[in-house]
Parts: sequence; structure tokens; C-alpha cells
Amino acid sequence: MAPHTEQLTRPAVQLRSLTRSFDGRTVLDGIDLDIPAGQFVALLGHSGSGKSTLLRAVAGLDHEVTGSGQLTAPDRVSVVFQDSRLLPWRRVLANVLLGLDGKEAEHRGREALAEVGLKGRERAWPNELSGGEQQRAALARSLVREPELLLADEPFGALDALTRIKMHALLRELWERHRPSVLLVTHDVDEAIVLADRVLVLEEGRIGLDLTIDRDAHARGEYRSRLLAALGVTEDVR
Ligand SMILES: Nc1ncnc2c1ncn2[C@@H]1O[C@H](COP(=O)(O)OP(=O)(O)OP(=O)(O)O)[C@@H](O)[C@H]1O
Ligand SMILES: [Mg+2]
Repeated sequence: MAPHTEQLTRPAVQLRSLTRSFDGRTVLDGIDLDIPAGQFVALLGHSGSGKSTLLRAVAGLDHEVTGSGQLTAPDRVSVVFQDSRLLPWRRVLANVLLGLDGKEAEHRGREALAEVGLKGRERAWPNELSGGEQQRAALARSLVREPELLLADEPFGALDALTRIKMHALLRELWERHRPSVLLVTHDVDEAIVLADRVLVLEEGRIGLDLTIDRDAHARGEYRSRLLAALGVTEDVR
């Protein structure tokens, strides 16, 4: 894409002076943020800093919440949470297809399951899948909707370390193939650096650090130190 056309393209997500508060307590305090189409963004911050609040706002899932500001997001948005939220009384393929009808959708559902490595498990019940497999099914459910924006709230938080590493590779691969914009909430600095092209740190209701990750650079250690410093963590424990 020529540079000038790229500049004319509207960002996928645009937040202007976004505020959210609960019981008179401000959680998001005038957030300005543009996420260009196709960018992979990770959002870090302490517990209670407002990460999920921001994600729910972008997802349009916070109608009862007090707040102001402007928010633009694409029409096709998928959300993945820490638990897979599969319906236990529906088989895996039916969960992936939830709300979609027809042969074409079923074909796409089967393809999405194959993409996440669950070919052959279409007729399994959710409780027959491991935690990692359930999260993969949740990813397939989001993929089948061909989202322009994928929102993920600590999607790998409940998985063991080894499964998490495999899920990182899978998510990055799916992103490279489908190129949605991604906003991934995590509390894991290394996960953010491994996956994202840009890492934000939410601090006192604002974006305290906005770090572009050069994936070719050998600067992982430096990114890590800067992000940990922004989170108020010192690294002299050996
Ligand atoms: N529906 C709600 N009603 C009242 N307070 C809320 C509500 N949702 C969030 N909060 C408060 O807003 C603050 C931010 O919550 P949020 O869930 O966004 O944090 P978080 O950064 O996602 O934390 P964690 O890392 O623990 O998931 C917290 O103090 C929380 O108690
Ligand atoms: Mg949260």
C-alpha cells in the first residue's frame, strides 16, 4: 500500500478522551488511542488498573457504565476471555458456529477448527477437551466470524506455561494469516513482547507507556526492563 493511501486509512480503533468510572471512582481518565488496521497491540497494567474496563468499552459491552468520550471500532469484533465460555451442552463445532447457519458457515467452522489443530474433534463435548484445547476452540469461534478486531482478555492466563507458549505461536500465526487488529490484555510482560508489535501500559487511568516493538531487533531485554519499570517492578532479584 502506498504511504499516502495508508495515511488516509482510518484507524480500526479510535478512542478520544474516553473516561469510565464506577461509584464516582475514575478508572479510565481520558484515554486517547488509535489502533491502525492490522496492528497487534498488547495492554499491560496492574490488577485493577482498568484493562478489562477498556476492553469491554471497545467491545461495546459496557452499556450500564458511567463514562464519556468518543469511541470508534469496526463492525466485526470478536472477544476471547480467560475461560473459553463454551456452552457445555453443545458439541465443539456447534459452539464454534453459535448463531451462524448454513452449509457455508459449517464449512468455515470446520476450517477454523482445523486451523487451531482441532480437526477431528468437531463432535466432542467441551468437557472432553483440555483447557488449552478449549481455548483453541474459543479462538476458532472468534476466527469463524472473520473479525476486523480481535479483543482478548488474558486468554492464556489459566493455561500452564508450556501450553501458553504453544498458544502464543498459534495466535501469532493466525494473526499473520488473517490480519485482524488485535487488542490483547495480559499481565505478562514477556507474553506482550513475544506477541505484539506495540505494548501499552495502563497507569492511573491513562496510557503511561506506548512502546513500539521492533521484532527484528535484539532489544527484548531492554523492552522488558522498560515495561517492568513502567509497572513499578525492579529486576534485581536473582
Ligand atoms: N462493574 C463494576 N462495578 C464496580 N466496579 C468495577 C466494575 N468493573 C470494574 N470495576 C472496578 O474498576 C477497576 C478496574 O477494573 P478492571 O476489571 O478493568 O481491572 P483490570 O486491569 O482488568 O484488573 P485485572 O488485571 O485484575 O483483571 C477495579 O477497581 C474494579 O473494581
Ligand atoms: Mg481484567
